[in-house]
Amino acid sequence: MNNATESEDIEAKLLLEAIFLKYGTDFRGYSRLSVKRQILKMVSDNGLKNISELQHKMIWDGDFFEKLLPKFSINVTEHFRDPSFYKYFREDIVPVLKTYPSLKIWHAGCATGQEVYSMAILLEEENLYGKTRIYATDINGKALDIAKEGVYQNKELSQCSKNYVKAGGKKTFSEYIAVQDQNFVMDKRIKNNIFFFDHNLVADQTFVEAHVILCRNVLIYFDEDLTRRVVKLFYDSLHNQGFLCLGSRERIMGSATRDKFNLIDMNEKVYRRYPSALANRAG
Ligand SMILES: C[S@@+](CC[C@H](N)C(=O)[O-])C[C@H]1O[C@@H](n2cnc3c(N)ncnc32)[C@H](O)[C@@H]1O
Repeated sequence: MNNATESEDIEAKLLLEAIFLKYGTDFRGYSRLSVKRQILKMVSDNGLKNISELQHKMIWDGDFFEKLLPKFSINVTEHFRDPSFYKYFREDIVPVLKTYPSLKIWHAGCATGQEVYSMAILLEEENLYGKTRIYATDINGKALDIAKEGVYQNKELSQCSKNYVKAGGKKTFSEYIAVQDQNFVMDKRIKNNIFFFDHNLVADQTFVEAHVILCRNVLIYFDEDLTRRVVKLFYDSLHNQGFLCLGSRERIMGSATRDKFNLIDMNEKVYRRYPSALANRAG
């Protein structure tokens, strides 16, 4: 590591510590590389000289901190992202869910909501949506506002439709939206059973006993220790035999979690929670 990189790493670490001390917001367990990339972007976007200058501004100016807070989270997402996952979900998980009298699903780190509406459409097509409550959470208030509105730009439409078909959609994507000028809005019947709210995976507790948790493309931003803590939160928030669905580049099979989850599909990164008795015996 060269001298400048090492100094920047130290500055970035001090900035995260200062944010935690001043505002209680904890990014200290985020993966160093990606958080540093975001920080350096804030430095250049705001015409600052270095991370120390950013730190000074952040801790002396609460409004500046509030303005930059959403920039710590990366909200990239799309409808039916990774279509093969939804196809797998429809073919392999839905038959199990059909045997339950009611369903609770938690989307953790839902960003602007596209993933949540995709799941609602899939469940509607499988006649499961009526008995389902979907909880969709994120730390980014601005992203959650967009998610609640369910309004997206028309330029996303062609990709949505392609993904929907690849995901095994039974109708056409346009059946679930209304187009208004440059935007399209998700149909009210798809929005009905979804509850969006603020929840921080680092600091907040469990609030649900879910049959399925989707936390896709979030853990990739966390370091090993934080991932272990969040996986424990998911374990505590799932029914026995509940499903945990991660992003295609994510995995949780460290020694501390091996006794809690069974990997049931390697390609789609879907895990199933072991019954507690088994985890206790192994642990
Ligand atoms: C790349 S997006 C993933 C969106 C969606 N799950 C997907 O796969 O398309 C990551 C999301 O995780 C959220 N996030 C990051 N840290 C979080 C935390 N501590 N608690 C809850 N959500 C968090 C970010 O705000 C962002 O919206």
